[in-house]
Amino acid sequence: MSSKISLTRYLVEQQRVDGLIPSQLRLLLEVVARACKGISQAVNKGALGGVLGTAGTENVQGEVQKKLDIIANEVLIEANEWGGHLAAMASEEMDSIYVVPNRYPQGEYLLLFDPLDGSSNIDVNVSIGTIFSVLKKPEGLAGVTEADFLQAGAKQVAAGYCVYGPQTTLVLTVGDGVAMFTLDREQGSFVLTQENVRIPEDTQEFAINMSNMRHWDAPVKRYIDECLAGKEGPRGKDFNMRWIASMVADVHRILTRGGVFMYPWDKREPEKPGKLRLMYEANPMSWLIEQAGGAATNGRQRILDIAPTKLHERVSVMLGSKNEVERVTSYHLKL
Ligand code: AHG
Ligand code: MN
Ligand code: MN
Repeated sequence: MSSKISLTRYLVEQQRVDGLIPSQLRLLLEVVARACKGISQAVNKGALGGVLGTAGTENVQGEVQKKLDIIANEVLIEANEWGGHLAAMASEEMDSIYVVPNRYPQGEYLLLFDPLDGSSNIDVNVSIGTIFSVLKKPEGLAGVTEADFLQAGAKQVAAGYCVYGPQTTLVLTVGDGVAMFTLDREQGSFVLTQENVRIPEDTQEFAINMSNMRHWDAPVKRYIDECLAGKEGPRGKDFNMRWIASMVADVHRILTRGGVFMYPWDKREPEKPGKLRLMYEANPMSWLIEQAGGAATNGRQRILDIAPTKLHERVSVMLGSKNEVERVTSYHLKL
């Protein structure tokens, strides 16, 4: 790229030239990016900053919280609560919604986030990330309640993630394709490094936690068995496997070179529809994937069409290269 385009300039142009984002949404995205920069700093310090290890508490989903889960959550709240662009926030790490305190002006947007995705990778120095989704507060009623958040993913007005890996990369959509920004630490700003991200429709790479194989449903087992059979099997080609255990890093690989990612329902906890959370993991990732030409379903239905019934709802997830997601979805629909 000949002249560097900062995230700020990209957003200003999206607002001015294309009229795609109102100024309040632009501000919101700038603030989220600034928070991600702060989280990236904390992540980078690691043991030197005393940020590794568990916090000794549990979140609403019964998961043990790491120190960084809590730090990242606080950074996002503190950055976003005073700007006047938000009505409320929701997070994986908070039981219920966080309404912007009365001392600050209330805006018209709702922000949802997984402050730190891939918590099991923090202490072992493997890529982790922050995932976020932006909705508009429904018009009409004053105040804000959890019900205002319960909108299908198709209603998102912005979605993205920031991956803290060898580079810190912010990936964003406002409904006009997917753009990637790399953090330039010397300048302190995110710089546009890829626009119009496209996922190849075919792939020979899948991502799934194979240790759960014995608990899967027949359609998922069939799909993976066929991949594993390689050249000699019905697919007539060999497949490679990757599983980072940070959705953010697995999705980033898929946006970069294609692939399919699955965290399906399984028999370990049959009453749960899946492990991943619909509103702040599956929805933003699914929109990014669709915006890059991929597909995302729960095996039977487009994820973005699911009407949520609760904030921390879980969902089965299959996303990535279009033809593979369509194949595994068709196996579910046939059986
Ligand atoms: P989180 O750290 O926010 O709880 O999310 C972890 C998720 C997801 O990022 C990843 O794909 C998956 O859990 C890994 O699960 P396993 O440990 O079962 O492989
Ligand atoms: Mn997560
Ligand atoms: Mn998390």
